[in-house]
Amino acid sequence: MSQLRNDLILRVLRGESTERVPVWMMRQAGRYLPDYVKLRNKYSFFERCRTPELAAEITIQPVEQIGVDAAIIFSDILVVPQAMGMEVQLVESKGPLLPEPIRSTRDLDRLLVPDVEEGLGYVFDAIKLTKSYLAGAVPLIGFAGAPWTLLCYMVQGQGSKTFDGAKAFCYMQPDAAHRLLQMITDTTIGYLRGQVRAGADLVQIFDSWGGLLGPDDFETYSLRYIRQIVAALKDAAPVIIFAKGAWHSLAEMAATGAQGLGIDWCIRPQAARALAGERVALQGNLDPAKLLAPIPDIKKEVIGMLDAFKGHPHIANLGHGILPEVPVSHARAFVETVKQYS
Ligand code: CP3
Repeated sequence: MSQLRNDLILRVLRGESTERVPVWMMRQAGRYLPDYVKLRNKYSFFERCRTPELAAEITIQPVEQIGVDAAIIFSDILVVPQAMGMEVQLVESKGPLLPEPIRSTRDLDRLLVPDVEEGLGYVFDAIKLTKSYLAGAVPLIGFAGAPWTLLCYMVQGQGSKTFDGAKAFCYMQPDAAHRLLQMITDTTIGYLRGQVRAGADLVQIFDSWGGLLGPDDFETYSLRYIRQIVAALKDAAPVIIFAKGAWHSLAEMAATGAQGLGIDWCIRPQAARALAGERVALQGNLDPAKLLAPIPDIKKEVIGMLDAFKGHPHIANLGHGILPEVPVSHARAFVETVKQYS
């Protein structure tokens, strides 16, 4: 395998000092890029995910066009429920739809913990191809959804602001919920290990809905399972946990041994650092909507963010995914400002 020419993000995750702060953006391969939209108009979402040539081409677009310091494999967190036996559709302008959601113990009998090579081998093939396209230019990030966030979609059956149906399932049928969470966890461990075997240099766990749970429930329904995943990857690759809104549990997340923790824009970097401790790298945390502001304002905001993280390991990022409406020049201004800062 070719040596990485830019390993800034890996060095930050090891706690080493670097000449500058590395930068990437969650959802960096997406609809704000005209070349992504061209492929989107030609192929369905899951066609793009399942065809290694398309997934690899989309993955490297932001590396070549925006200049980020890492690629993240083009896929989706919902490929895991799919491989476990559920039907998943992406409905234009409505988001994910799982027409036969999990509602009872009996529904769990429809699910399996798949052989990941069989069910998700296309992701591993996309990773191998992307590594060859990148030829060592930047590291490649693998990813999976956290078990709690996947349960949200598998039980609710669609997106939601509150996921009350998923919570009701947990609070009314806790045994079934834990059985489901454990099946997702077992699948995810095999899946992420497979991604690392295929060439992913680090992995991120997306717990997009972690912040819907209070601290005790976050431990019970989310962190307990994330902890198993981090432990299983300990000797394989560095792990970043991004549990959006779950800032109250940063200390507990740091204690899992994860090398990086993502934070959103609703907590000050200094406060996050006080909770997380000195060792772990923090990733974030610009409000993605700030990229809609005029470029001079973006520059000011980014410098303010970098100042606030200064002195401890930091990976610059947005606090959540980039919005489709962001002009490409604004995304570039975000990345360029980080690169020029010292
Ligand atoms: O970051 C990247 O560039 C890699 C690709 C990536 C996608 N989804 C592609 C995608 C990643 C890391 C994800 C993760 C994901 N998917 C999460 C966790 C991160 C987060 O944003 O909270 C979640 C909750 C999902 C589930 C999902 N997939 C939703 C809610 C949607 C619809 C909303 C939307 O943005 O359109 C998707 C579809 C999806 N996944 C798209 C992309 C590029 C849009 C598909 C399209 O219309 O082209």
